[in-house]
Amino acid sequence: MTEKDFMSKTVAKDGIGGKVAFRSPSNIALIKYWGKREGQVPANPSISFTLETCATTTGLTYKKLEKAVPDFSFELFFEGRPKADFRPKIETFLARINPYMAFLKDFHYVIETSNSFPHSSGIASSASGMSALALCFMELERTLDPTMDPDFFKAKASFLARLGSGSACRSIEGPIVQWGQHKDTEGSSDYFALQYPYPVHEVFNNYQDTILLVDKGQKQVSSTVGHDLMHGHPFAEQRFKQAHSNLSRLKEVFAKGDLDNFIKIVESEALTLHAMMMTSMPYFILMKPNTLEIINKIWEFRASSNTHVCFTLDAGANVHVLYPESEKEIVLQFIKDELIVYCENGHYICDQIGQGAFELKGTV
Ligand code: DP6
Repeated sequence: MTEKDFMSKTVAKDGIGGKVAFRSPSNIALIKYWGKREGQVPANPSISFTLETCATTTGLTYKKLEKAVPDFSFELFFEGRPKADFRPKIETFLARINPYMAFLKDFHYVIETSNSFPHSSGIASSASGMSALALCFMELERTLDPTMDPDFFKAKASFLARLGSGSACRSIEGPIVQWGQHKDTEGSSDYFALQYPYPVHEVFNNYQDTILLVDKGQKQVSSTVGHDLMHGHPFAEQRFKQAHSNLSRLKEVFAKGDLDNFIKIVESEALTLHAMMMTSMPYFILMKPNTLEIINKIWEFRASSNTHVCFTLDAGANVHVLYPESEKEIVLQFIKDELIVYCENGHYICDQIGQGAFELKGTV
């Protein structure tokens, strides 16, 4: 599918109104997206576990206007209250998806959104938030065009979510999702994500992710700025190549359930992401001393316990602790005994690999 395939000429009849709602999860990348080109095109392919517990719920109430308006007409509520500081992000999103949804300016919208995790947890809500919103707009498009193919619905939802935030395109489906053109993955695209299409060993079923909230404060450098610093970065080309080859290596790892190599790839990706930050100009560090304390504790515990616990990081100080479900009891005990002390106010979130977004029918 190309960009053109996503341009909808669907028009809305007068008097149309209604409400749709979706719950969309967050995701944690194993191979990291870091660096992009114009139009939210990733510099390298990425792959993630879709999460289950960390999610955004968004409702979209729509009412056809008597006359289309020059600007987007919407109200925005976050956790029940008007949220003016979220408006610019939504406006940018609407402007980006407008060429693909001819009917967009024909409606007035009320967007109501809330997260399952506290806003000030340091957990980025852009992936879950933008994917939930993209799904709501797709549902509106499907209402206007009920013959829409279900696969097209998912691909276009991912396509639109990407325009809101790159990683959001990986939150439509689960449990493992890949985004970005890659020679060894049939059907892969820079424009939308797809469910990982190759065999995955059962050891990855219900894979656990305990998120240690090391620092709940606002990040000093946003992902958008960080991506931008990959332009002219001295190690960029090498890094992009590495992501491609790590993705090829993961294929066998997933098929065989080779956890030792899974750990090597995932931890190396996390540290490489932060190494890119430390070696860009200007350089910056998002890890905190407690991030490193936790990493060292995980390495010590893994060596002494013969478990397969490992870590990954997103663009912040929090640590995602990944482990198979069969090791849940022993690893959770270790986390409680030795890692919680490094979390801000002792806070952490137990999550696991999930099945993706779904519509909240009949509850709205
Ligand atoms: C480190 O998707 O937040 O989490 O496209 O600018 O919204 P924008 O960036 P974003 O970047 C995510 C970066 C990452 C890695 C990843 O999720 O692959």
